[in-house]
Amino acid sequence: MSLSVTIARWRGALKALPGLARDVLNYVRFRRAIYQSKELLDRGVPLIEWVNPLQALERVHRHRFPDRPWPEQRELALELGPDGNALEILYLALICRVADPAAVFEIGTYEGRTANVMALHTSPACRIHTLDLPSNGKTETRFPIAEGDRKWREKKGVALGGRLGKLPRAEDNSRIVQRLGDSAAFDYSPYRGRMDLVFVDGAHSYDYVMSDVRNALAMLTPRGFILMHDFLTHAGVTLAANVLQREHEVFHVAGTSFAILFPQKKC
Ligand SMILES: C[S@@+](CC[C@H](N)C(=O)[O-])C[C@H]1O[C@@H](n2cnc3c(N)ncnc32)[C@H](O)[C@@H]1O
Repeated sequence: MSLSVTIARWRGALKALPGLARDVLNYVRFRRAIYQSKELLDRGVPLIEWVNPLQALERVHRHRFPDRPWPEQRELALELGPDGNALEILYLALICRVADPAAVFEIGTYEGRTANVMALHTSPACRIHTLDLPSNGKTETRFPIAEGDRKWREKKGVALGGRLGKLPRAEDNSRIVQRLGDSAAFDYSPYRGRMDLVFVDGAHSYDYVMSDVRNALAMLTPRGFILMHDFLTHAGVTLAANVLQREHEVFHVAGTSFAILFPQKKC
């Protein structure tokens, strides 16, 4: 191997070092956050229960429609895109089919992938409001944006809502409405008491998740519920879900990173 090739290889390796170091640091931070929340959990916050995915769907059905029996053969035709976490996309679609919401609010649009899934799997009258920070990166946020959330906020090479407006049926596209603002400072008053499903998938810090869930609770209809994403994969979400179960019925859908919250515990 010639000297110039060797030097070029070393240069390449050196260039990759800062990225590698950043990844290692982020991983250490992530483990530390998990450990810290575990410590908190060990200090007396009981863990939420986990239930298998089919039981979770049945519980959603019972919560939404207490007087209707679980349909023996429910039409669950699914249209799925090729990307994303297939199991979670499939499950989100199933939850929408079973819960049949008349209105949905999503916190955390990113490209619009999950908003599209919800539009594809809800009834034609259902409107999906999806909220994200404006993409200019200048909006002041009420709570600090955690290190691990910066890449979601910065969206390098990705357009905010870039996948929206591209579903095959124009009427599905027109049911998705984009909203812009900091989820902790947004004016939710027009949506109060009107959402059957709120999907919380914004910033992942404990403060943000707690704030988003509080705002979500105020938006729910009497039989509405909250779907939280990134349970177990993000310390802030995991801790928040466990803390919230003191006041509400919260459970983890096993094998996914979804946790479901029904407002107020039914004793
Ligand atoms: C995990 S991504 C959402 C992914 C999306 N639901 C999907 O799977 O298609 C999180 C999103 O939350 C947004 N976000 C972060 N902090 C926010 C805040 N304070 N207010 C509103 N949106 C926020 C980020 O900009 C990012 O687009």
